[in-house]
Amino acid sequence: MSFTSSTASYERLEGKVAIITGGASGIGASAVRIFHEQGAKVVLADIQDDLGEAIAKNLGEHVCYIHCDVSKEDDVRDLVDATIAKHGKLDIMYNNAGVMDRPFGSILDTTKADLDRCVGVNLGGAFLGAKHAARVMVPRHKGVILFTASACTSIAGLSTHSYAASKYAIWGLARNLAAELGQHGVRVNCVSPFAVLTGMNSKGMHEDAIAQSEVAVSGMGNLKGEVLKPEGIARAALYLASDEANFVSGLNLVVDGGFSVVNPSMSMAHKLVPEN
Ligand SMILES: NC(=O)c1ccc[n+]([C@@H]2O[C@H](COP(=O)([O-])OP(=O)(O)OC[C@H]3O[C@@H](n4cnc5c(N)ncnc54)[C@H](O)[C@@H]3O)[C@@H](O)[C@H]2O)c1
Repeated sequence: MSFTSSTASYERLEGKVAIITGGASGIGASAVRIFHEQGAKVVLADIQDDLGEAIAKNLGEHVCYIHCDVSKEDDVRDLVDATIAKHGKLDIMYNNAGVMDRPFGSILDTTKADLDRCVGVNLGGAFLGAKHAARVMVPRHKGVILFTASACTSIAGLSTHSYAASKYAIWGLARNLAAELGQHGVRVNCVSPFAVLTGMNSKGMHEDAIAQSEVAVSGMGNLKGEVLKPEGIARAALYLASDEANFVSGLNLVVDGGFSVVNPSMSMAHKLVPEN
């Protein structure tokens, strides 16, 4: 299924100002395009300056790029302050930047440095983004804070321990923030992707190989006939960011085609039992 601007008869983020971290690649880059297409003014924050600047230049005056390492509090504070200086408000803070130590691995091979990096960027960036967004949203009694967590918050065994720990922690942070910030009219949610081919796991791969891998990876899931792409996650983020989700807070929206709620082992075993 492909999405085009013709699927929307109105701009779902008209008049909104959004920051998207990790917006230079993958899910974030897709969210930048879709949020912009839906009427938002977007501040794209990343550490990949060339990619981020190219996207902003390509999309025009309503998208700008700011260098921001989300693990550094000064960078995140400056990002939020620069957004307020430019646009006068912040409606949506999408904390999406993230890193993976490696796709899979034993605890025995995991170093403390792996853990520190995943926690520093994934959880640290989420925490700092939320903190500085709340600083400007609470006085206005509205706003949306959104995180990209992962389907590994819903079922075990999908990633390394460092990555899973950092993403579970984001989900815990989001729930706790929803409790506090709901008192101030600020909604807090997570979007949690199943495996999707992005810069994180397909760097240097040819387009055809990416397309084949997308089909193969989605095929491992439960839902047949659909392929998960970065824009599928960005569309879920769009819903949570928009006023259509005006009473949705404390939700972990797992975009995995039902993978994490299905245990296929019984039906697989059943197929192996000979019929009488
Ligand atoms: N791709 C997947 O299968 C998958 C699955 C579940 C969750 N996620 C999550 O989705 C989010 C987006 O990842 P993606 O898959 O689009 O990968 P990606 O590598 O394409 O994008 C991640 C972006 O984050 C940026 N980034 C990394 N460290 C940063 C830092 N310290 N400060 C600012 N920006 C930084 C990168 O430069 C990159 O542009 C991540 O949080 C990731 O953990 C991805």
